[in-house]
Amino acid sequence: MSEIESSTPHEIPAQAGTPPTKRDSFTSKLGVIAATLGSAVGLGNIWKFPSMTGTNGGAAFIIIYLICTLLVSVPVMITELMLGRTARANAITTYQRLSPKKSQPWWLIGASGVLAAFLILAFYTEVAGWVFAYVAKAIGGNILSTDPEATSAVFGKLITSPGESLMWQWIVLAWISLIIILGVSKGIERMTKRLMPALFVILVIVCVRSLTLPGAIDGVEFLFKPDFSRITPGVFLAAMGLAFFKLSVGMGTMTTYGSYYGDDQDIPGSALKVMLSDLSVSILAGLAIFPAVFAFGFKPDSGPSLLFITLPAVFASMPFGQFFMILFSILAAIAATGAMLSLMEVPVSYLAERTKLNRTQATILTFVLLAAFGATAALSNSLLADVKIAGKTFFDLYDFISSSLLLPIGGFFLAVFAGWVWGYPKVRDSLSNHGVLKNEKAIKAYYQIVRYVAPVLILLVLLNGLGLIKW
Ligand code: TRP
Repeated sequence: MSEIESSTPHEIPAQAGTPPTKRDSFTSKLGVIAATLGSAVGLGNIWKFPSMTGTNGGAAFIIIYLICTLLVSVPVMITELMLGRTARANAITTYQRLSPKKSQPWWLIGASGVLAAFLILAFYTEVAGWVFAYVAKAIGGNILSTDPEATSAVFGKLITSPGESLMWQWIVLAWISLIIILGVSKGIERMTKRLMPALFVILVIVCVRSLTLPGAIDGVEFLFKPDFSRITPGVFLAAMGLAFFKLSVGMGTMTTYGSYYGDDQDIPGSALKVMLSDLSVSILAGLAIFPAVFAFGFKPDSGPSLLFITLPAVFASMPFGQFFMILFSILAAIAATGAMLSLMEVPVSYLAERTKLNRTQATILTFVLLAAFGATAALSNSLLADVKIAGKTFFDLYDFISSSLLLPIGGFFLAVFAGWVWGYPKVRDSLSNHGVLKNEKAIKAYYQIVRYVAPVLILLVLLNGLGLIKW
């Protein structure tokens, strides 16, 4: 039974009055890792991680980020995968099924996750839209110039043109929707299985190019020289936020993906593999970017300007620059694709399982809602540039509400649920695959962290995010 189960779609228990439905799921262990890694690897690695590391103390920041990753985001990731696989349902239904008392509103974790998916996608598809636009522009050859003023003008024109911003956002949304419609195994799994190796190959090529430039060592030093004086409590908290965002945890993405995991998949092992591979991508991305930036005497800007203004000038300065610009843009587009698939799967799986809509209709509805709602982020540099809520444009506001509030809140309650409500016997049974895996020590360590360490650390981030405590 269990052997058949792991390679065929899972059956969900019949709800009153409805016949049991077949659920699509990932079909191979490699596919599981590709899809999960595809979710984790994204614009976060290529843009957030390098620029945050560069400006916040280099290796010192990486050490703090690693601590947060090991003590908070990996445990939360294991929690989500475990709960999703146990319930075999979308993010909201999972908590309804697993809640010991039906009156307890644990399903709110899932509801906040669906909301977070919309907020993150609204601004993420916009940045991805810029990336896709750069693939086209790099092939056309008209964005390269060694003069940062010129590359800045190109980027400025793109983000301040309402028509162009919207068009690229919708192209990205349509691309993701098409893959989602194909399904979990034939769409998400098949796509990420092809894209992830391609991403590694391209990354290594760009890295080798960057590291072999004369003067590259300055960039390596910038990235890795530990400067502990830069580690303030605020930087610690920023590292924690990044750790959540990087591993796609705290909002139901991993719960949803976990619901497609096979019964024989080693969840703690998979989480660790994904974390290590994701970290490698982040570090390689830093090694692809900074040595080249320094070699040509540019300033390591942070934020979007590093990727969209400085890098084109850097590439324009090297032989075959257009080729490397195209490669790098494709790399970023691939990374963004896997991440967006996992974000969009959250509302789609919910709608497909809980409403009368089938998967295709659920995807089309999500597409339409996102195209409309995402427009507020896409237009936040043009028509809506002056509309500010709490001093933030829509773009910044969505980023703030999701990353600084909803992810830590979700992560906190997830840790509390696993550590204090669900209880050790169920945790041990699930994470050892009913005793098949001999990983009791790892499970014990996980359980202690999720019970005590993670909630306390997250609470500190959260209270600081809300301005309730200040260090
Ligand atoms: N992890 C992705 C990145 O680094 C972004 C992402 C995908 C995400 N799914 C998520 C972030 C869920 C938070 C929650 O770019």
